[in-house]
Amino acid sequence: MHDKWTKIGEILDGKKEEGEKVRIRGWIYRSRSSGGILFVVIRDSSGIIQAVVRKGNVPEEDFKNAEKALIESSVQVEGIVKKDERAPGGYEIEVKRFNVVSFAEPFPITENYSEEFLLDVRHLWLRSQKMTNILKVRSKVFEAIRDFMKKEGYYEVQPPIITCAGSEGGATLFEVKYFDRKAYLSQSWQLYGESIIMALEKAYCLAPSFRAEKSRTPRHVTEFWHFEVEEAWVGMEEMLNLAERVLSYICRRVADECKKELSFLGRNVEDLYKIEPPFPRITYDEAIKILREKGHEIEYGKDFGIIEERLLVEGLDKPLVITHYPKEIMAFYKKRDPNNPNLTLNFNIIANELGDEIVDGSERESDINEIIRALKAQGNDPKDFDFYLDSRRYGSVPHSGFGMGVDRVVMWICKLKNIRDAIPFPRTVSRIYP
Ligand code: 4AD
Ligand code: MG
Repeated sequence: MHDKWTKIGEILDGKKEEGEKVRIRGWIYRSRSSGGILFVVIRDSSGIIQAVVRKGNVPEEDFKNAEKALIESSVQVEGIVKKDERAPGGYEIEVKRFNVVSFAEPFPITENYSEEFLLDVRHLWLRSQKMTNILKVRSKVFEAIRDFMKKEGYYEVQPPIITCAGSEGGATLFEVKYFDRKAYLSQSWQLYGESIIMALEKAYCLAPSFRAEKSRTPRHVTEFWHFEVEEAWVGMEEMLNLAERVLSYICRRVADECKKELSFLGRNVEDLYKIEPPFPRITYDEAIKILREKGHEIEYGKDFGIIEERLLVEGLDKPLVITHYPKEIMAFYKKRDPNNPNLTLNFNIIANELGDEIVDGSERESDINEIIRALKAQGNDPKDFDFYLDSRRYGSVPHSGFGMGVDRVVMWICKLKNIRDAIPFPRTVSRIYP
């Protein structure tokens, strides 16, 4: 087993000479036989390649095993690299040895499957080329976020997941039985983030957030990955600028480093290079006007949903920024606009093409009495938020932050129709298995 193994991707990238001997290992992707020859397509994490097994070219035992091995059997193959225009990827392997590591049982995913069935066998469907490519892009998105934030001097912080109070309203809080008390799964690091920056000044987290979200939409899951930033001494404008720059950086990194994966998923990388700041920008009031001009009747003061957001990004090739939402529909921590007390200094970023909110940010309210008023108005008991209020009692400073739904960003970049496909094991109202 100390032999050197070649990744299939190295062969497809032309890194092996024609006629060179290689050893690969992976799983059988598909297989067919024709007149004493077996065409076995093998996959590993880097790609798929056709292995040609000819009777007489391999020991008899190897041929029998190759013939018997079903899809998804794990194998180790030794052979010679050959260029062949007809083979998928342009190369194939003329097999000399074919060793089956583990014979698979009949694989449950055949050609006719429903979306629901694929979710039932998610653990197996992850092996598909589609999911493998999505997971590679997803990994790059996380890597890009961390690299960008490090470069910009932010500390990564790990917030608690079991929390004592929520920041985004009681309706979507998941309750946890915590010994003889009630606790909640974190909806957002918000309350902790605002405390942490009084020490670190520039901080972010990449952590799961949970929402007991009953709506079955293509953009909601009950567990999502949340990239949240909080920073002392900055206002809304600088925070919005940071959100635009990090989104642009993510798109560029993925476009530079995941070209093959994006092309498989049908995403044109040139579109990603266009995602550069500044993004087009409108206020909530302007958005209402545009919606009405498009013939969509919406009551002033209502938050936007999927219909409104999709209408607003029609035809755009960059995400859309919407600012200054009405105070009364915003979470208690968003700062009132000093120029118009009915509005807040906040912004949402809606992904073009997708039409879903991917970022939600604001300057934070500095007036402790205003926070207490808004907490009460939204049905909260300020006592549950006392630790949070300490961030205003002891040396409060102007500060801002945002939260980005990373799964939605992956969905947008990979051009997926449902957020579930951006996540290896998605959690929805009706599904926690597997
Ligand atoms: O808009 P939200 O609820 O804002 C907050 O939680 C703030 N505390 C963030 C902050 O300022 N630190 O959530 C932020 C983002 C949304 O814009 C959306 O992209 C994503 O998180 N998100 C979800 N993604 C998938 N499924 C859900 N149920 C989501 N809820 C929010
Ligand atoms: Mg929001």
